[in-house]
Amino acid sequence: MKYNYRGMTIYVEKDYAAMSAAAAAMLLQEVRENPSAVLGLATGSTPIGMYQAVVKAYEKGEADFSKVVSYNLDEYYPIQHDNDQSYHYFMKENLFKHINILPENTHVPSGESKDVEKTAAEYDAELYQIGGVDLQVLGIGNNGHIGFNEPGVVFAKGTGLVDLTQSTIEANSRFFAAIEDVPKKAVSMGIATIMQAKKIMLMASGQGKAGIIAQTIFGEITPAVPASALQLHRNVTFFLDEAAAAEILPLLK
Ligand code: GLP
Repeated sequence: MKYNYRGMTIYVEKDYAAMSAAAAAMLLQEVRENPSAVLGLATGSTPIGMYQAVVKAYEKGEADFSKVVSYNLDEYYPIQHDNDQSYHYFMKENLFKHINILPENTHVPSGESKDVEKTAAEYDAELYQIGGVDLQVLGIGNNGHIGFNEPGVVFAKGTGLVDLTQSTIEANSRFFAAIEDVPKKAVSMGIATIMQAKKIMLMASGQGKAGIIAQTIFGEITPAVPASALQLHRNVTFFLDEAAAAEILPLLK
């Protein structure tokens, strides 16, 4: 089902698989219309199904990524890129190694850099130079973070080093052997970097995200809910399953 609310497009799909397929269709259409598209890519468990659908389409010859460029949202800091919990590793395993995107066209913020503020500023500068992101993929944290922009008192501008909140460290500890192994910091695109994208799509699945999705779409625009900044964007599409949409469905009808 497709809804519009204050200029935002909201797809509510039956379950995770249907949500993943709908999101993949948007990404694939972008690449078909613009073979040299600049994609902003996200990690987390939510987009995995979408990446699998994209890989299937590629294997069937329905998509060509040979000219596509990608910039990822974030990376833990510090982390070695060959660590199986790094976002470099995640992207290689879940997408890059399965499609014909050129390794030199893929970019993920460095978790290994000695001068992280410098490499983060360079990441943004490079992105502006090539004209910015055409389609930005986002998941959402339980606390409303996008990328690793945690709730705060201001919206972060550019890509930079951020402190992870205790709730994010706890949420992400499910992927690590022990909670002590979760890095306490990350490098993340800022809210301004994300908002520069021409189109943005945000995916959310499961009842655990229902409350934060309601705040994101219907709540105040506040750095306390970083994703609420998306209400200011002209071209945002939400892909939700019914569980994640549970609190907004009565408001949309
Ligand atoms: C992570 C990532 C985000 C992601 C979020 C939700 O910490 N930095 O980009 O959207 O958490 O993750 P999940 O999709 O696993 O719920």
